[in-house]
Amino acid sequence: MESYKLLCFSLLGLLLLFALASSFADAKAHHHDFVVQETKVKRLCMTHNRITVNGMLPGPTLEVKNGDTLVVNVINRGRYNVTIHWHGIRQLRSGWADGPEFVTQCPIRPGGSYIYRFTIQGQEGTLWWHAHSSWLRATVYGALIIHPQEGSSYPFIKPRREAPIILGEWWNANPIDVVRQATRTGGTPNVSDAYTINGQPGDLYNCSSQDTVVIPVDSGETNLLRIINAALNQELFFTVANHKLTVVAADASYMKPFTTSVIMLGPGQTTDVLITADQPPARYYIAARAYNSAQGAPFDNTTTTAILEYKSAPCPAKKGLSIPPVFPSLPAYNDTNTVTAFDASLRSRNKVLVPTDIDENLFFTVGLGLLNCPPGARARNCQGPNGTRFAASMNNESFVLPSNFSLLQAYQQGIPGVFTTDFPAAPPVKFDYTGNVSRSLYQPIKGTKLYKLKYGSRVQLVLQGTSIFTAENHPIHIHGYDFYILAQGFGNFNPKTDTSKFNLVDPPLRNTVGVPVKGWAVIRFVADNPGVWLMHCHLDVHLNWGLGMAFLVENGIGELQSLEPPPADLPLC
Ligand code: C2O
Repeated sequence: MESYKLLCFSLLGLLLLFALASSFADAKAHHHDFVVQETKVKRLCMTHNRITVNGMLPGPTLEVKNGDTLVVNVINRGRYNVTIHWHGIRQLRSGWADGPEFVTQCPIRPGGSYIYRFTIQGQEGTLWWHAHSSWLRATVYGALIIHPQEGSSYPFIKPRREAPIILGEWWNANPIDVVRQATRTGGTPNVSDAYTINGQPGDLYNCSSQDTVVIPVDSGETNLLRIINAALNQELFFTVANHKLTVVAADASYMKPFTTSVIMLGPGQTTDVLITADQPPARYYIAARAYNSAQGAPFDNTTTTAILEYKSAPCPAKKGLSIPPVFPSLPAYNDTNTVTAFDASLRSRNKVLVPTDIDENLFFTVGLGLLNCPPGARARNCQGPNGTRFAASMNNESFVLPSNFSLLQAYQQGIPGVFTTDFPAAPPVKFDYTGNVSRSLYQPIKGTKLYKLKYGSRVQLVLQGTSIFTAENHPIHIHGYDFYILAQGFGNFNPKTDTSKFNLVDPPLRNTVGVPVKGWAVIRFVADNPGVWLMHCHLDVHLNWGLGMAFLVENGIGELQSLEPPPADLPLC
């Protein structure tokens, strides 16, 4: 009997080993060269010089499987500093490959290079990569698609075809000049001239029709669209004329399927939808335009389009004779109700284990600010409202990046004077955050403060929007983590009553949450990834103004709970 048991166990062990070995055998390393270079790009009737990866806009789509390793050699042949961030990749223990400049590395200088090496662990779906230096990500971005491991499949019907749909934002001026000008003047940067779908503005813009992106479909088939908002400064509504969208995933996490005619994505967010070609064969517009929640703020109110084209549709006849594609109706630019309904529909596909017994109860305000003109400064450098300079903050701390060391290097090597770890767990002053805020509360303090987390601590974070200067929806992104969104709401978060709104059963797991305009969001995560992780508003202009902070997550016990050593070619300052 005993020997029989032993035999059983060893057989079982062998089987397990075999299963493990075969799953590793499938894991692959993908090697890519990303050449960052000046490229001639024709858009909106002009030829422009723009920084791209490998001469492409958008850049190359990376396709991998869960468990695979990516090895990307980034070679900087451009004239600006650059880094690449793999937005949404957990980077477990591999923080050195995360990419935000001066956070996990110093920038790759012109002429330099750096090899990003990381393994995708337990993630499936649509993510993306983008430059994380100045406003280079306006033209340096692409899709990062993670397929299920060999032998596993989507938890929904297999789509006939798949297509990434990357929403972008285009300036006729060099985006680097646009942000530099704003930094100089202290005012708001010029709004963009177009939005784009897979790099093209589409039919509604001058000189753009010829290059409009066409997505071909066959009648009756169901396809998967992987939609990514890569715009710099604008939340976007997205729709397809006459077609229903079934949402199945967001930010590389599977969602309970639900059907809608319109979705909203903040910059940084992704949404996967199934779309069935169940309409009469014809051409239908795919369209995106702004959701702009900041009252009175200028924004680009143009509409980008691509075309969903049934292959059996009558050929688009010669110019002038063709029937225009069917145009969809899009929500009004300030339609917050549609956004609220969409957010409320997102639920994790399965029941999840939400962290309870919270170790860290954090409350961060999120919003704009105005800095008084520094003494001796000229009026032309203080072109914010009433001679101020625009700023933004979390808990009144306006985040400033270091310039001589990355935060991660400074932490790992114990270099003093680069940052402090006294980021406050709550705002220094309590006030009616979403009410009429007194002007005396407008002025944040600049600094480089981190919040330290013990390895494995369970964190709850209330993100509270403020009405300082102007209230608006802020897409808040955390590097190195996914988090559960327990609830979102309006007004000031009330810990006595609003906890009843928490979804502790199947909350969505994301890497970017929209904090509603004049409202709040509550998120939870377990600090199980050691390193220094930036958390910031993914509206780039807000990050420029300081709307960010960083978590310093300490090592746990042993190698598997510790940050890996830095790669030999890590760029230093
Ligand atoms: Cu998508 Cu800090 O980035």
